[in-house]
Amino acid sequence: MAGAGSEERLHVLPRYRQEDVGPAFKEVAKKYAGDAGAAARLSAKVKTGGKGVWGEVPMPPNPQVKPEDVQKIVGWVLTLK
Ligand code: HEM
Repeated sequence: MAGAGSEERLHVLPRYRQEDVGPAFKEVAKKYAGDAGAAARLSAKVKTGGKGVWGEVPMPPNPQVKPEDVQKIVGWVLTLK
């Protein structure tokens, strides 16, 4: 993931597939700065999917990603500046 290119628009699989779907992770970090519950809420959302925060395009569920990996990725996303 790191080293995949511009982290500005890095969004795991869509980027891998050369698409441009979902919010830039830096924007996500900015939106939830100072929100103590964000890591847990976002980890749950990555697992089950959801829509409506950044637009009407849904994030699909990502059940193939291990819970501890989701938490690590979301933790990293929230550190981006
Ligand atoms: C491990 C994989 C993934 C991680 C860690 C991840 C992470 C995130 C995070 C943190 C958000 C912000 C959610 C919010 O603010 O409520 C988000 C939103 C979004 N993601 Fe992902 N994502 C992943 C996979 C995907 C995939 C595979 C797609 C599409 C093919 C996708 C599409 C989207 C879209 C469209 C949104 C906006 C949803 C909304 O407006 O509520 N994501 N993602």
